[in-house]
This record gives sequence, C-alpha cells and structure tokens, in this order.
Amino acid sequence: MKVGIDSIAFSTSKYFLKLETLALHRREDYEKYYVGIGQKQMSVFPPNEDIVTIAVDAAQKAVAEIADKNDIDMLIFATESSFDLSKSAGIYVHHFLQLKENCRVFDIKQACYSATAALQLSKSYVMENPSSRVLVVASDIVKYQPNTSGEPTQGGAAVAMIVSKDPRILTLEQYSGIHTTDVMDFWKPVYKNEALFDSKLSVYNYLKSLNIALKRYFDASNSSISDLDCVCYHAPFGKMARKADQQTFRNKFLENSLIYGSLIGNSCSASIYVCLLSLLDNTPEDLDEKRIGFFSYGSGSVAEFFSGIVSRGYRKMLSPERNFQMIENRMEISFEEYERFSSAASMPSLSKYQNIGSVTLAKIENDKRVYAASC
Ligand code: CAA
Repeated sequence: MKVGIDSIAFSTSKYFLKLETLALHRREDYEKYYVGIGQKQMSVFPPNEDIVTIAVDAAQKAVAEIADKNDIDMLIFATESSFDLSKSAGIYVHHFLQLKENCRVFDIKQACYSATAALQLSKSYVMENPSSRVLVVASDIVKYQPNTSGEPTQGGAAVAMIVSKDPRILTLEQYSGIHTTDVMDFWKPVYKNEALFDSKLSVYNYLKSLNIALKRYFDASNSSISDLDCVCYHAPFGKMARKADQQTFRNKFLENSLIYGSLIGNSCSASIYVCLLSLLDNTPEDLDEKRIGFFSYGSGSVAEFFSGIVSRGYRKMLSPERNFQMIENRMEISFEEYERFSSAASMPSLSKYQNIGSVTLAKIENDKRVYAASC
C-alpha cells in the first residue's frame, strides 16, 4: 500500500523585516546575511500571532483538500516553541478545525526533527489503519537574543500535511538512515524565551550527521546518489542547505527549494517541509515519479535521511499563486517595530496588528490563552 503526503499547505506571519534593515542597525555588511548566510527577509510575529494561530491557518488550507475531515482520527502537532508544558497546542487546532472528538491529539518534540518523527509515525499508523487520515502540523517561531549571530536567521512558519493511503503528492518510501547523538549544539531552557546555540558545533554536527544518516540510508535501501533526483534539506538558513548539498549531492533543483525559506527565515520543525513546498511550487520541470531525498536534522541531536516518490499529477494539489501572494502580501516593518514586537510578545493584548488567518490570540487571562476569530 502507498502511504504519504496527500495534501500540504503552509502559513507564516503577516509581517516581515528586511535583512538590509537589520544589517544597518547591527552594523553588519548586508552581504554577510545575503551571501554568507543566504537569507533576504524574515517573518516577524506580532503579539496576537503564535504557533497555534498560524497552525490553524495552514491546517484549514490542507484539510480543505480532502473530501471528509471525519476521516482524520489523529492530529500530531510538532513544535519546539511550545508555551505550555502540559496542554497540547494541537488541541486548539482540533477545536478550530472542528475535528471529530474521536481523534487522538498530541504534541511531539525533538528540535527541528519532530515533524519528521510525526510523519513516520503517521505512515505506520495509516499502514495499520488504511481508512484513517492523520493531520501532521509543524509550527515554530524562532527567536534568538538580539545582537547574536543567530538573529538574522530568525523566522517562523507552520506546515500542515494530511497523511493517507494513495497520497496525491508524495509516497513515503520504506528506508531511512538515522543518527542520534547527545550534543549541546542548540537548546532552549524552559525559563528562556530565546534559543541558545553553539554556532560552529551546530554546523559541524549537522554536516557530520548528514554523512552518517545518508550512508545508513544508502546501505539500508541498497541505493546510491544516482537513485535520487533531488534532495530537500532542513534549512535553518539557505547557506546551511547549500553546504550540505555541496558535501553530498549537487542537486540541480536546490535553489528552488530554498526560495520560500530565504524570505520567511528558519521555521525549525516546519523548515524541511517549507523546502518541499518551495521545490514543488517553483520547479518548472515535471517532477512526476521523481525520487526526493529528505535530510531532517534536529539539534541535540536526531537526524534522518529518507525518501519519497512524487505522485503523478501532484501539481493539481498545489497552490503556488496562493503561497506567493501570502509572502508578497506581508507588510514590511521598521526596525523600531521589530523591537516593539519582540518586547510586546510576552504580554499580548487585543491588538491593532493583523493576523494571517482566521484566528487571533485575543488575550491571556488567568494564565489561559484565549483565541478568537480575527478581524
Ligand atoms: N560578505 C559575504 N560573506 C560573508 C561576509 C561578507 N561581508 N562576512 C562573512 N561572510 C560569510 C563567512 O565567510 C561565512 O561563510 P562560510 O560559512 O562559507 O564560511 C558565513 O558568512 C557565515 O559567517 P560566520 O561563520 O562568521 O557566521 P556566524 O558566526 O555569524 O554564524 C550562523 C552564522 C551559523 C548561521 C549563525 O547564524 C547561527 O549560529 N545560527 C543559529 C544556529 C544554526 O542555525 N545552526 C545551524 C545548524 S543547527 C540546525 O540546523 C537546527 C536549527 O534549526 C537551529
């Protein structure tokens, strides 16, 4: 039985900061951001937008593509930006999508790797329950301390995917190469709003993990580089994926996969699936039945290399114009506003800012997050 991604959609903030603006205020050469790191803009999130509101927007678009949402009996929410150590962010998504009550919902965490874990679990689940569909949502907003080397790689997005049999976008293949190792390259203590990292160690461990996971994938599948038509990488910034690709593959479609990420910034768990959407939307060549390799990396660290076959007629399931418009229609903010967004983020109130989708974080009352329809 073929199981994989039947529908996919993404969402981000309504606001962005140009990295030229950041470079000016941080007294950096913009070329370092644009060429050295490979980023142009970053999505910036107002206080009324969070991992739930963008996840609902992405999920509504993905679910609109299936005939009956009552087939969804599991929702997995992948994130490392959780605001609650107990209640799952997925429950809010379940509520706003009005999914049936007979549905398992839970969050899953392992840095930027978690959505891949969710995808693989969903594949096994659908294999056992062929009439089921699983909604996988990856949603992250990435923040570093101001004036650190991570700052120009900030960003955020949510990707929602429906996993089912006879998928109309991508069939997940059987083999994976996995590499798990205990390393402190990137972490986020519960008492901190921003992630901490060791730049050089993180880049080193990403590339080392790629080598090991890729070899394990080739050994398990008895295949080689020539069996892959292209590769999507976890892309915390464009240059990371370019370095990975130079080391391994020299993928002719790489740049197509990095277009969206260069404009929205790092979206952690969602990042590799933003790359997949960017690749599918922006590659004029027909990718029907092509094999895509995926390198998923979550600091800490777990890495997995796996593959999928693009479904015949996949283009019918895509909305490139809608995705471009969402990015194009974002509003540019000034550096001063960027700083205001960061400081206001801890005390959201009914806000003058716009939401990307139909749900807003209206207030936090008695330590409870209250969501409402956005204006
Ligand atoms: N013009 C053009 N290029 C320039 C330049 C200029 N004026 N100045 C510097 N550069 C180049 C450098 O030569 C360098 O190129 P190479 O990588 O090819 O050597 C590049 O710009 C970056 O410069 P630095 O090495 O000085 O970079 P930095 O110390 O500022 O760190 C970073 C850059 C690693 C991206 C940093 O932003 C960072 O640590 N980010 C957070 C951690 C991270 O994303 N790590 C990635 C792996 S971990 C992961 O993937 C999980 C995750 O999502 C976070």
